[in-house]
Amino acid sequence: MLDFITKRFTKESPYSPVAKDVFKAYNKHRPGGAKDLICYVPFNSLTFSWLGKVYACTYNRNILVGEYPKDSLRDIWFGEPLKKLQGYIAHNDLNYGCQHCKYFVEKEKFTGLKPQSFDKYADYKEHRYPRVMEFEISNKCNLECIMCNGNTSSAIRQNKDKLPPLAIPYDDKFVEQMREFIPHLKEAKFFGGEPFLIHSYFQIWDVMMEMNPSINIFVITNGTVLTEKVKDLLSKGNFELAVSIDSIRKERYEFIRKNANFETTMQNLDYFNDYTKSRGRTMSLSFTTQRENWDEMPEVIEFCNKKGMVFFNSFLTAPFDLSLIFLPSEKLKDVYTYLSKFELPESNELEKYNKSVFLDYLKYIRHYEEKNRNGIDYSEQKDNYEAVISERSTAENKKFSSREELYEKIRAAKITDLKITKEEVVARLEVLFDSLNDLEAEERILSGVYNSPLDIMIRDVSNWTEEELYAKVKSQYITSA
Ligand SMILES: C[S@@+](CC[C@H](N)C(=O)[O-])C[C@H]1O[C@@H](n2cnc3c(N)ncnc32)[C@H](O)[C@@H]1O
Ligand code: SF4
Repeated sequence: MLDFITKRFTKESPYSPVAKDVFKAYNKHRPGGAKDLICYVPFNSLTFSWLGKVYACTYNRNILVGEYPKDSLRDIWFGEPLKKLQGYIAHNDLNYGCQHCKYFVEKEKFTGLKPQSFDKYADYKEHRYPRVMEFEISNKCNLECIMCNGNTSSAIRQNKDKLPPLAIPYDDKFVEQMREFIPHLKEAKFFGGEPFLIHSYFQIWDVMMEMNPSINIFVITNGTVLTEKVKDLLSKGNFELAVSIDSIRKERYEFIRKNANFETTMQNLDYFNDYTKSRGRTMSLSFTTQRENWDEMPEVIEFCNKKGMVFFNSFLTAPFDLSLIFLPSEKLKDVYTYLSKFELPESNELEKYNKSVFLDYLKYIRHYEEKNRNGIDYSEQKDNYEAVISERSTAENKKFSSREELYEKIRAAKITDLKITKEEVVARLEVLFDSLNDLEAEERILSGVYNSPLDIMIRDVSNWTEEELYAKVKSQYITSA
């Protein structure tokens, strides 16, 4: 009897929480004090992503919590896949797709981790609905920035990749379903494509203005679209803005941000800056640091300090040929030596913050300078979510050279929780290619797949039936003559 009781109560938990000492250290680091859980994101948030994919967190794209329009917003928010993820997090277990945070938490690199911005929503049990929603539902964009890709910019997809438009499943019904959720929202974030060109964003904003105009709305924009419609929208809402500017030198700016006009963007930037200042909202400049512009970082920070803007550094790990971290060590040493000569001011909070972003970047460069002394590790960043997501090459005509090369990548991919094995994914693709019997279409697929996050493609192939797969491929890659 005693044995039964001991066994029963010592039954192993299916969860593996983060180590107690790490959790303790994390709790000490939290600005708002210690909490019971390491993360409150999945209890408070939904991210609507490309092709109808819905995640609980932008940093956990391994676990799909639903797919629109197959699942309604209600099904998704109150459904089993999200509950399962919440179950892991409720046990402080980061092994269910939360590898990004697990990596940083275990290394005790806590600064800037997404969960910290959700500590204010620790009282989730009292709220039935999400407080934060993030949207990246369309790739409609007017620019073809050199570091971007066809999944994020429709202009690149059309002009560079020469592919038909991506199917955007978010429709009027989606906006209607949002009505149940909008009154409960505190924050909404809009990414793109270019948000100020995306029709469904305007529809969502209209409903937000009608039902809950005080929502904190964040938009990251390329700054080129400032129509009367945009001005009208801004005047009605509570917007925080980030404008992406990768250089304040005309020639360089227009080289990186293909199709943009430097003078127009600068004028628009002043408008956006005045708007945010007049409402006491934060205005940021998003600088995507890459081989073309790293030397300008101190100058751009000075510009931000002068204009009262937060400097946001968007780390670029892909495409490889634009990223600094894949430079040889000697070159990175030169970068470090050059940048470290700059003494940035810190006479107020903004300057202090902007300087800290700069110093963090110097540390990052130093880290890779040391690391790359032993050779450049191209695989390293692939475990990292951002790299997986942004591993979309921009170079023209880049593609897998053959089916076999694609299959090898699939076999090597670190991906779990698939409905079928990776070998079955490969077999499914083989049947598909054979049945298409169309070499040109095959080339387009090998290029399209190369330019997309591989993990999403593998998951799609494993989730769809063979008929669905055939239909999707047909609509995306086979142009009717
Ligand atoms: C994809 S854009 C979407 C919003 C808007 N179109 C814009 O340019 O701000 C969001 C941010 O991602 C940055 N970005 C683009 N390509 C990137 C890459 N390969 N790595 C890191 N950031 C990138 C952009 O510069 C921009 O600041
Ligand atoms: S970075 Fe933004 S503006 Fe540039 S092409 Fe990509 S989505 Fe468009």
